[in-house]
Amino acid sequence: MTIHVVVGTQWGDEGKGKITDLLAKEADFVVRYQGGNNAGHTVVVGEDTFKLHLIPSGILYPNTVCVIGGGVVIDLEVLFKEIDELQQRGIKVGYENLKVAKTAHVITPYHRLLDGQQEEKRKEERIGTTGRGIGPTYADKIARTGLRVMDLLNAEWIMGRLKAQRWEERLTAEKQPDHKQVVADLLALGQRVAPHLVDVSQLIFRAHHKGKMILFEGAQGTMLDVDHGTYPYVTSSNPISGGACAGVGIGPNQISEVIGVAKAYVTRVGEGPFPTELKNDTGNLLRERGAEYGTTTGRPRRCGWFDAVVLRHAVRVNGITELVITKLDVLDGMAELKVCNRYLHKGQVTDEVPAELPVFAECEPVYDSMPGWNEDTSGILDYDELPLNARRYINRISEMAGVKVTLVSTGSRRRQTIKII
Ligand code: IMP
Repeated sequence: MTIHVVVGTQWGDEGKGKITDLLAKEADFVVRYQGGNNAGHTVVVGEDTFKLHLIPSGILYPNTVCVIGGGVVIDLEVLFKEIDELQQRGIKVGYENLKVAKTAHVITPYHRLLDGQQEEKRKEERIGTTGRGIGPTYADKIARTGLRVMDLLNAEWIMGRLKAQRWEERLTAEKQPDHKQVVADLLALGQRVAPHLVDVSQLIFRAHHKGKMILFEGAQGTMLDVDHGTYPYVTSSNPISGGACAGVGIGPNQISEVIGVAKAYVTRVGEGPFPTELKNDTGNLLRERGAEYGTTTGRPRRCGWFDAVVLRHAVRVNGITELVITKLDVLDGMAELKVCNRYLHKGQVTDEVPAELPVFAECEPVYDSMPGWNEDTSGILDYDELPLNARRYINRISEMAGVKVTLVSTGSRRRQTIKII
């Protein structure tokens, strides 16, 4: 009877895909609970690289059931493209191993177009969204005008919901898609998704009571959470562990472990404050060595030193019980490493993330300096064989977070992982 949640502790792109794939080996179910195809989870198996946007990272194990929970917003065209591509590569994706919540909300072409139009209008204040229609779809959900997957089984329901969304007022005339075509496409997508539809809350409740091992996979990260991140420079869902309860339909007391994933340095895509950002050669080096380009949009990621203030915030809002550090190998060969443990704002020291965005934007990082290591860590399997300074770096992060580190990842492949007992 185990439910574990995997969450990102930074601004997304922490390497959750690889970690979920590793943990999924033991899992009967892997469940996505929020976000949509704004996510990009990369999983490397042997010589093959899989980039998943909507399908949970457990799909590469034939006996693991993957579930898209009701808190996810689904672009069905993207879902079927992903299914087709996986099937063409010999991966089993069928009704038995991919279940979709009836209640998940649907991203339509209208939402995608509105996402782009809103970003154009925001000009200097743009959020830097992925342009996938995520924000407008969640906006309709909360405004109670959303279209749910099960609504696609009936043309009248589709038309009723689209009418309630009042697109003639929200999208400029030149942006309007062909309405009849949209309805016909949604109806066809509804027919195709129908055999995958289930009540996810019931499915997971029963599986849990049968003693199954269940993994909830968070997308994005804590600092992109709509309530606990750098609002308004956030995504429109709750990537934190609490979001899993609402997004799946289970009680918080059913969750046994919350696994926080932190990259050994920090990255961010899109706009918004980022105190430890390095706009210099070191930042460029991290980007090149870490291949820090968006999986979904290809945008270069902003890179910076490790931020323990952000990590402690993530530990608190998620209830993190264990930590995973990824991409340690990217730091190999760096003479000096810096870790931010406090911020300075107008002469005042703080060790918390301020809720006020303008204050956070003005925070300057206060760094602890640590010596780096020269050795290549990417082939190391045993924690004790890591260079002393690498172990000190991991211990320092664990100490600052107040949480034990149980896994360290030193490369994109499954075997490039060190378990710490
Ligand atoms: P949206 O989720 O497309 O609305 O974008 C809102 C913000 O979240 C933007 O800054 C995006 O770059 C960021 N974002 C959304 N999904 C991801 C992700 O999977 N990784 C990193 N950043 C993301």
